[in-house]
Amino acid sequence: MIPNVAIIGGTGLTSLENLRLTSCKDYHTPYGDPSSPIIQGELGGKPVVFLARHGTYHTIPPHKINYRANLWILHHIGIKKIIAVAAVGGIRNDMMPGILAFPDQLIDYTWGRHCTFSDGDTTHVTHVDFTEPYCHKLRCWMVQAALLSNLDIRESCTYAATQGPRLETAAEIKKLESDGCDIVGMTGMPEAALARELGLCYATCAVVANWAAGKAAGEITMTDIEYRLRESMTHVRVLLESVIQLTTN
Ligand code: HPA
Repeated sequence: MIPNVAIIGGTGLTSLENLRLTSCKDYHTPYGDPSSPIIQGELGGKPVVFLARHGTYHTIPPHKINYRANLWILHHIGIKKIIAVAAVGGIRNDMMPGILAFPDQLIDYTWGRHCTFSDGDTTHVTHVDFTEPYCHKLRCWMVQAALLSNLDIRESCTYAATQGPRLETAAEIKKLESDGCDIVGMTGMPEAALARELGLCYATCAVVANWAAGKAAGEITMTDIEYRLRESMTHVRVLLESVIQLTTN
């Protein structure tokens, strides 16, 4: 039986240790190859699919990810809901490293990525509603699961999707802040928009890995980001196991 929930794991989450593996399969799509094999298994006794956004060995940078292949294959195999886990920098004062945030809005600053499925020979142009970019119901389940597990979370915030792979300048972060952004990451778009085009229910669990540029003294190092993510993934795993129970009830 194909599960109807998939987890897309980002930096710090290239595998799920608490997943009881049932299958692992490579796929090809009309848009090219997905980032990783499609892993099927059970989390807390519930069926789930896992895909590693940056590849099994974390080799694909944000601007090179084949977002269309990733979303297309999940839809094709019958997935209905996607929990996207993504590392971010904290902009708002209460978005300190270590917390989990569930954005309800986003602003897209990426460019040059394949951002739609409708760029072929279509007979008419379609526009999908994206007023609320994340699935409300799935966000509520994530918040509920996080609260049940006593996790330190922020329920509502705006995600800035930047191009990467470099981190931002302090001035760029000031601009994002004045635009109303609370957290910043590099992979939230076009992932969310492609999920919407396919009619998938999609929500993000953002893991704050560092203060965004200029928000704390000193430079941002990968060592610090990786250290923080390693610590936070324990919370993410607890959250995922708990939310899967709610989504598959
Ligand atoms: N900026 C963009 N993406 C990120 C950051 C950041 O500070 N931290 C983790 N992903």
